[in-house]
Order: sequence, then structure tokens, then C-alpha cells
Amino acid sequence: MNSEERESGLPRALSFSLNLHPLSVHPSIPSSPSLPLLPSQARIDAWNSDTLPIFEPGLDEVVKACRGRNLFFSTDTTTHVGGADIVFVSVNTPTKTRGVGAGKAADLTYWEGAARMIAAVSSTPKIVVEKSTVPVKTAEAIEKVLTRNAPDVAFEILSNPEFLAEGTAMEDLANPDRVLIGGKETPEGRRAVEALAAVYERWVPTERVLRANLWSAELSKLIANAMLAQRVSSMNAVSALCEATGADVQQVARCVGTDSRIGPKFLNASVGFGGSCFQKDILNLVYICESVGLQQVADYWAAVVSMNDYQKTRFVGRVIEAMFNTAAGKRVAVLGFAFKKDTGDTRETPAIDVCRGLLADRARLAIYDPQVKEAQIMEDLHTAKFEWDHPRAGAGSSKQGGGTPRAEDVEVVACPYAACAGAHALAVLTEWDEFRTLDYARIYDGMTKPAFVFDGRNILDHDALRAIGFVVYAIGKPLDPFLNNH
Ligand code: UGA
Repeated sequence: MNSEERESGLPRALSFSLNLHPLSVHPSIPSSPSLPLLPSQARIDAWNSDTLPIFEPGLDEVVKACRGRNLFFSTDTTTHVGGADIVFVSVNTPTKTRGVGAGKAADLTYWEGAARMIAAVSSTPKIVVEKSTVPVKTAEAIEKVLTRNAPDVAFEILSNPEFLAEGTAMEDLANPDRVLIGGKETPEGRRAVEALAAVYERWVPTERVLRANLWSAELSKLIANAMLAQRVSSMNAVSALCEATGADVQQVARCVGTDSRIGPKFLNASVGFGGSCFQKDILNLVYICESVGLQQVADYWAAVVSMNDYQKTRFVGRVIEAMFNTAAGKRVAVLGFAFKKDTGDTRETPAIDVCRGLLADRARLAIYDPQVKEAQIMEDLHTAKFEWDHPRAGAGSSKQGGGTPRAEDVEVVACPYAACAGAHALAVLTEWDEFRTLDYARIYDGMTKPAFVFDGRNILDHDALRAIGFVVYAIGKPLDPFLNNH
């Protein structure tokens, strides 16, 4: 690839892969685990509309530039999947909620359905690429489904795990740290690996395209997420220690992160990690370890999730304790509900547990998030949590207790000032940039006194807030005398 091509950025990069494999996207729902997937017309229609079904910075521009040219969204699997040389499978692999492995193992229903669909429409050789995060050895199972259902078709399965993060997905895709391709160590397997590598090498420097065997590629994805989550849990553990000793977690992170062996990224203590992947992938890893008899290894990784649960519980405890041990009847403004900034995604967001914890103490919540819709927040707060999601809670309750919140206790508002009006406290749960520059003097004037700020992301200017008159709690920071002494 020449420098002009590399500089041309993502739309060009995307068009290469899509030109070579002019396949449409087929988000689908399973009819039953034993049947091929049924395409979801509603979802495809949304992808073909002016309002895409997900928010991701830069996505709109790329989709609009490529759609109808070399990017097609369609339910016509016979034409598009049947006619493709390479098929990427990017279906959901959530944690199983019932049956064997419930609460930990990955649910491969969608993957199996996709494999059956591919087999049903295939008459020419195909490379089938696992994009979804899957347990080790999934490729073997998928190959069995494909070859038993379409015995005359040659299939090669590759593992090509996705490492992009929400909020920076388009940037990560255009300029990845690495692309990992795992394949069988046979001549056909190696040929398939090279075919896919050639696609990426149109815009990714060759040295960043890594080859591995299938099982290493599958496992690498789980381990990458587990180690990222482990870093956050490590800093969250340190944040509790900082509060107890008067150390400052951000100063510790800066000092530790300047060691080039450790590095500065992913050392931000927070109210807890969220997102659809970290917890799911660690639980899956724990299940795999247990399945092969490695209980100590399983316990080691499970502790990363336990520490995350502890951090969310600890935050709720701080809020309630600061407000004289009761949140009952007090209005708390919740700023941010998404699991991180620049996304509208709420899957496993720490805000769900924090809100439920506050509601269990009978707080009244006014929630504002620039991207999350009211219906989503209400659904998240009303959906019963599985016991497995909260291993340390009693049966049938959320970790924070409380059960279903009362409708009158939750208000979703369209602006942060409205959320804070009349509130006893405001809690920052997502690090949206706009929260850094709000008029906090104005907010303070409209709040009940003492007015509390609970910064779950360490993004605010705490000294400036104290100068205004706020009582401030921030994760892993020296405690306000007010909080220490009352
Ligand atoms: C994560 C990984 O970073 C991606 O590499 C991976 O491809 C993706 O999962 C996946 O498997 O799909 P994502 O969940 O989108 O990406 O977001 P992250 O940026 O990793 O953040 C995860 C959570 O950790 C967020 O709640 C974030 O606020 C939190 N976090 C992150 C911290 O609390 N502190 C930090 O220093 C970094």
C-alpha cells in the first residue's frame, strides 16, 4: 500500500475490503438454535435509513459515503452470502443465562444459526471468519456444522478477533495496533490466512498483521480484554487504598504509568468498568478454566469482576454515607448513564448498579445522558438482574438490593441543569466532555445545601468546586474534611 492510499483514511480502507467482498451486513435473529438465522428486516431497514441504529463517532460519514457503492445492507442471504468468497460473522455471543454453564459460558446460539445459514446458501468455497468473541475451540464446532450441512463445499474457518473499542471504533479500524488472524496449520489454512491478510494489508502496515494458530487467536482476544479489565480493577483497588491513606490515585497512576514496562493507558480509576465485553469475556474465561480443571486460574480472573462489583458498591456507600447515612427522599442528579463517553451503549454500564443501589436507599433520581434515550434507561433499571450477574447478592435481588424501582423515583431529563435543580447531590457516572464545562456556580445556587458532588470519573476540577461551596467526593482522592468528620 502506498502512502497516498494510507493517508486516504478509513472510507478508502473500508471500500477495499468491501470491494473485494461486496457483502452486505446481515444482522439477524435466531428462530431457534437448530434452525438457520432469520434476517431481521427492521434492522436492515434501519441501516439503510438516514438514522443509523447505533451512535458511533465517524460511522455515519463512512456508511453514507460507501452505502450503495460498495457497502450494501440486505436480507438477501442467497445472493450475498452465497456469492461471497469471504464471510465475516459478527454475531452476538452473550453470556448464557440458563442451562449448562449459565452465568459464565458464552451462548453460541447466534453463531450456530449463522453457520447453518451459510451452509444452506453455499455452493462455492468460502472462508468463514470469526469476528465475534468466542470461546477457544469454537472454530472446530462451527466447522462441523458447516461441513455436515454442506459436505460438497470447501470451508476454511479463520479467527480474526476484533479489538476496536466503542467511541473510537472508526479510528481503531483505520489505524489498528494490530490485526490478528488465526488459521489452521495446513496448506489450505495458510492460504486462507494470507487471503485475509491481503485484504487488511491494503491499509494496515504488514508488520501489524499477526498470524497465529486458531486456538491462540481465539484465546488472545479473551486475554486482551481480561488484562485490560484487570488494569482497571487494579487501579480501582488502589483507589480504595488511596482514600484510606490520603494518597491520590491519579498521582499514583501517573507515577506507575511512566514505567515504560507498564505504560500510561487504562489506569484511570473509575466507578467501575462496563460495556458488553469485559465482564462477559472474563466470565467466559473463568468458565473455560473451570472446564479444564484449573480452579485457581479461574478464581484469579474471577477476582477482576468481583473487584469491579466492589467498586460500584463502594461508590453507592460513599454517596449514602456522605448524605448522613440516608438518601431517602433526596434528589440525586445522575450525570451520564452510558458505560463510557461517546457512545449510547448502556450494556453492563456501572450506572445501572449505582442507580439501583441509590434507589434501594429510596433516593429520587434525575438522570441525564446526552446519548441514552429515556426508554433505554427505564428498561435497564427495570430489567431484573440475574443472580449470576451479581454472584455475591442474595437470590433474586440486584447486588445493590432494592428490586424494581418505583416509577415516581426516576426522572430522565433532557439537560444537566434540569437534573441538578433542587438536588442534594450530583453524581458523574460517565466521563462526557460536556460535564467538564458546566456552569457549576449556577448549579450550586439551585441545589439543596449542603450540595454534594460525587465524581465517579475524576473529570471535574475539584478545587474549583470546593471554592464554590460543594462538598466533593472523587474516586481515590484524599477525602474532604467534611466527609471524614461528620
Ligand atoms: C473493549 C476493549 O477495549 C476493546 O479492545 C475490545 O475490542 C472491546 O472491548 C470488545 O471486546 O468488543 P469497549 O468495551 O468498547 O472496548 O471500551 P473500553 O474503552 O475498553 O472501556 C471499557 C470500560 O472500562 C468502560 O466502562 C470504561 O469507562 C472503563 N475504563 C477504561 C476505566 O474505568 N478506566 C480506564 O482507564 C479505561
